[in-house]
Order: sequence, then C-alpha cells, then structure tokens
Amino acid sequence: MIIAIDGPAASGKGTLARRLADHFGLRHLDTGLTYRAVAAALLAKGLPLGDEKIAVEMARHLDLANMDKSVLSAHEIGEAASRVATLAALRTELVKLQQRFAAAPPGAVLDGRDIGTVVCPNATVKLFVTASPEARARRRTDELLSKGEQADYKSILEDLKRRDARDSQRTVAPMKQARDAHLLDTTEMDIETAFQAAVDIVTQACDA
Ligand code: C5P
Repeated sequence: MIIAIDGPAASGKGTLARRLADHFGLRHLDTGLTYRAVAAALLAKGLPLGDEKIAVEMARHLDLANMDKSVLSAHEIGEAASRVATLAALRTELVKLQQRFAAAPPGAVLDGRDIGTVVCPNATVKLFVTASPEARARRRTDELLSKGEQADYKSILEDLKRRDARDSQRTVAPMKQARDAHLLDTTEMDIETAFQAAVDIVTQACDA
C-alpha cells in the first residue's frame, strides 16, 4: 500500500503524512528532506547550488536514515532546496532512492511535490493537500512563535508565494495535482478535521 501526498509548503501535508503512516502501520518518507539534505551538504561545503554533477554526487552519498529534520528545517535550507530541486539529474537520482523506499514492505506514505505524478504514479491513493497562502503563512508564523522563534507574517507569506511559484513553474516535475488525486483543502480545517478527512479518503479508496 502506498499513499502519495503532495502539496505546497505549510499545507499540513507533512503532519498528515506522519499521522496517516502511524494510523495505517506504514513507513513514512518526507521527500522534501532529501532535497534539503543535498542543499544543506552543498551549503556546508560552500559548493554551488546550480551544478548538477556535484549535486548528484551528494545525492549518491545520502543516507535516508540519517536526515535530521530539526537541522534541515531551517528557512535558508528550504530556499536552497527549492533551487537544487530544479536540477533534472538530481531529481532522477533522488526519485530512485524514494522509489526504493516506497517499494519495501509493508508499504509507505511519501509526501512531497511530485509523488503522485512522478515518484509513485501507481500509488494506492493520492492526496493533494492545499490551503490558501494566507492560512499557510499564519500557521507557519504561529508555529515559529510557539517555539519562541522570531516570525514576521508578511515576509513568511511572501516567501511561501515565491517558493510556490518556483515549485509549480519549473520545467522538471513541477508541483501539480495528479489527475487521480483527491483534493484536500485545509484552509478552514484544524489538523484533527483534516486528519479525519484524509483517513476517510484513504479508507474509501482502499475499499473501492
Ligand atoms: O517540503 P519541503 O518544504 O521540505 O521541500 C523543500 C523543497 O524541496 C521544496 O520547496 C521543493 O522545491 C523541493 N521538493 C521537490 N519535490 C519533492 C519534495 C520537495 O521538488 N518531492
């Protein structure tokens, strides 16, 4: 069983993916972390973000079990990740890793931007999780403030819109809803409501 979840930053897809994996007894891969890990390695070594060969070399040394989300979630790493994510050869390399993860039993939940369209086109069920940019910026702001970090709603909103544009307009594997994906708009939902809606969609798809 493979659950493919795509959607823009701060849509709630990561939390939903983790909770669905727990609920259905599946493994979980946040594929955004794979792009972040490559970007972080390049930044740490002072290497260019636009060199396909170097990025592919970094991806070959990537260990999925050793990606530290608390380090990789830094804002500047997200920005750099969305730039390296435009490199076609890097995507090919990371997609291979992600597909290997998805194929291992008992199945998995993968979340990202191109899971339903490229990584797992034959997934058991596909969700496209979205929310208005304003709702996403509000959530991100509240999340940072609750951790005692600084957060400016306006600049977060601008960053999200810029990243959405880069992710949905790139030529290779742009973020888009797969034709057979269920749309889940969480703008007016809290996480509990969104989770229940996602469980219902998956259960119905499995029963069908
Ligand atoms: O989901 P997250 O914000 O961690 O992803 C960071 C960046 O990695 C995204 O902005 C996107 O450019 C890229 N990404 C991607 N394909 C995926 C997952 C993430 O292009 N499957």
